[in-house]
Amino acid sequence: MSDGPVGVGLLGLGTVGSAVGRAFADRSRRIDAAAGRPVKLVAAAVRDAQKPREAGDVPVTTDPHSILEDPEIAVVVEVIGGTDPAGELVHGALENGKHVVTANKELVAKDWNALHESARHARRELRFEAAVAAAVPVVAGMRTLGAVRPRVLRGLLNGTTTYICSRMEAGSSFEEALAQATAAGYAEADPSNDVDGHDAAYKLAILISILEGRHYHPDNVRRTSLRGVAAGGFSAAAARAARIRYLAVADFGDRATKARVGPEEVPADSLEGQAAGPMNVITLESDLVPRLVWSGPGAGGDATASAILGDVIAIARARG
Ligand SMILES: NC(=O)c1ccc[n+]([C@@H]2O[C@H](COP(=O)([O-])OP(=O)(O)OC[C@H]3O[C@@H](n4cnc5c(N)ncnc54)[C@H](OP(=O)(O)O)[C@@H]3O)[C@@H](O)[C@H]2O)c1
Repeated sequence: MSDGPVGVGLLGLGTVGSAVGRAFADRSRRIDAAAGRPVKLVAAAVRDAQKPREAGDVPVTTDPHSILEDPEIAVVVEVIGGTDPAGELVHGALENGKHVVTANKELVAKDWNALHESARHARRELRFEAAVAAAVPVVAGMRTLGAVRPRVLRGLLNGTTTYICSRMEAGSSFEEALAQATAAGYAEADPSNDVDGHDAAYKLAILISILEGRHYHPDNVRRTSLRGVAAGGFSAAAARAARIRYLAVADFGDRATKARVGPEEVPADSLEGQAAGPMNVITLESDLVPRLVWSGPGAGGDATASAILGDVIAIARARG
């Protein structure tokens, strides 16, 4: 990149992409000042060009490859989700000399080695702060801890399951709580990704991979679904001044790291016990630093856009 403006192309203009588009429309001066140079949103790729959106005035295209080939674009932001076609597009962007910022936890967790190899080979940056806990800078946080020996990483990494647990402790059945989560916009039409633990496992695997400096595959995370928890379990926990939360836990033993996600009891007055919705909580215990805690909004368009723009700004500054 020269000292001139940095062009950004979006792949996807849904919940997160639209929030990025609005941020460019509403706070471009702030973004430019943080980057130390102009940062311009050039275009966005979508599936349906006719769909009405609140995404600023970014031009849209239905050809994502035109974003990868646009010489004005230096940074590609992938917010399509899933592995197909997102994986092929991210690799293509790097091969075409673009830096990549992604919020895609599934792709990063599964394709860790190949993505990092693509970025190294292309001498371009691959950043994914938004993929874990959205606005909470926990990816950057873990990267600063290279010297510590981690002992336990524990957290609430999925807002949908936290919301369902908080509804169930207020008396709803699992089905009622899931319907409420869907109506409130937390759960997807297919809730399996959240309630069966895939989403939390992807995020946990990413954090372990950073801490260990090598790929920890999400298939190695033991998953227990939230579906199996009976409503009675919540009142029994309450009688012990406890609450049930969908916890992600990594135990860094001497020989092998064991990771699990599933419903577990936490003290009612803990940060995890007090969380009721998209609030994420991540605690790391290590040898040099006994306890570090991060918490904040782990989902939502604006919170996720904040992390994405932080990555875009970091690239624009570093590559000046
Ligand atoms: N939502 C959150 O709170 C949140 C938080 C953290 C991370 N994330 C991650 O961010 C990513 C995006 O999530 P989201 O909630 O914004 O998803 P979304 O609302 O479903 O948006 C997906 C976007 O991708 C577009 N798209 C899909 N297939 C495409 C294709 N083949 N070519 C071009 N565009 C295509 C869609 O186009 P149309 O609009 O035309 O259908 C849509 O604009 C995911 O990886 C997710 O895990 C989301």
